[in-house]
Amino acid sequence: MIYSRVAGTGRYLPEKVITNFDLEKMVDTSDEWIRTRTGVERRHVAREDQAVSDLCMEAAKQAIDAAGVDVSEIDLVAVGTTTPDTFFPNVATLIQHRLGIPPCPALGMEAACTGFLYALSTADKFVRAGESKCALVVGAECLSRLVDWTDRNTCVLFGDGAGAVILKPSDEPGILSTHLGADGQYRDLLYYPAGPSKDLHKIGTPEAAIMMTGNEVFKVAVKTLGNVASEALDANGIDKSELDWLVPHQANIRIIQATAKRLDLPMEKVIQTVQDHGNTSAASVPMALDVGVRDGRIQRGQLVLMEAFGGGFTWGSALMRY
Ligand code: ACO
Repeated sequence: MIYSRVAGTGRYLPEKVITNFDLEKMVDTSDEWIRTRTGVERRHVAREDQAVSDLCMEAAKQAIDAAGVDVSEIDLVAVGTTTPDTFFPNVATLIQHRLGIPPCPALGMEAACTGFLYALSTADKFVRAGESKCALVVGAECLSRLVDWTDRNTCVLFGDGAGAVILKPSDEPGILSTHLGADGQYRDLLYYPAGPSKDLHKIGTPEAAIMMTGNEVFKVAVKTLGNVASEALDANGIDKSELDWLVPHQANIRIIQATAKRLDLPMEKVIQTVQDHGNTSAASVPMALDVGVRDGRIQRGQLVLMEAFGGGFTWGSALMRY
């Protein structure tokens, strides 16, 4: 049996930082409110001249280096993002060319905060089917472009970033399973009201902003992420006590704590990065994985559960032996 295995990870955060104290000068908020309600202390914001593909490039180069592969070996690129450079070509195609990867399938996956897990799950299937021997999977976002920086309800939450992994085939497990889901009945709780085929002219203007019913999103997120974790463990006949690490979507520390509690996991076994960059949507899970791998906490062979939840709603998990 062929498994896909994470051979290397990488991440990139833009240099510009907006702290909670900076936000106090922009909207009616406080560091104390933001930290206690969300856990966020600062967020990174891409420069005007940086697009999502630029963020992807840095994260991808790190993952490629860490995996010890040459770009000529890569035969699949999958990028999860909701904030692409252009409507087309997709970001995967842009970085395929910029990295010098030979022509190959280049998939753009749009699933809000679950984008990386949608991309990972798809790439995993290519690898297990023998159709990819080396896949580059990226989650990246420039949500700062969609944020209304005068709306305290949302501007305190989001940030920009990119995370990447290289997947390679292996006889040893690897990714044990992925589970994806979506339910559009929740569209009105979290959405951006304009796009390429609807109210295009409103994008980036005060006429369009991220719309969110925060407390309702919170409740569904906690419930769904708990179910997603159980689904992944049950499908593999694994007890929650066997988990070494939870690598959750970094939206809100209270959502993360609630999920950990449902799994009876102490917070020491949860990779937490939300304080450093806020909610980076599709980038948050691969960046948190990279943090845990690079600081030596996540070790080869350990059991890692990644999970995410986002606008749509969409959700997903990946359970793996790192
Ligand atoms: N500073 C100060 N006060 C604020 C701020 C702010 N930045 N934002 C909102 N408030 C006020 C509200 O106006 C409200 O005031 P009121 O009672 O006078 O009307 C009060 O704080 C409480 O507002 P709530 O929305 O009830 O606060 P809550 O405790 O639910 O926290 C939050 C809000 C942080 C948005 C929370 O609901 C949350 O995190 N929800 C999940 C949303 C999320 O993570 N979305 C990201 C995408 S989905 C995902 O990734 C999971």
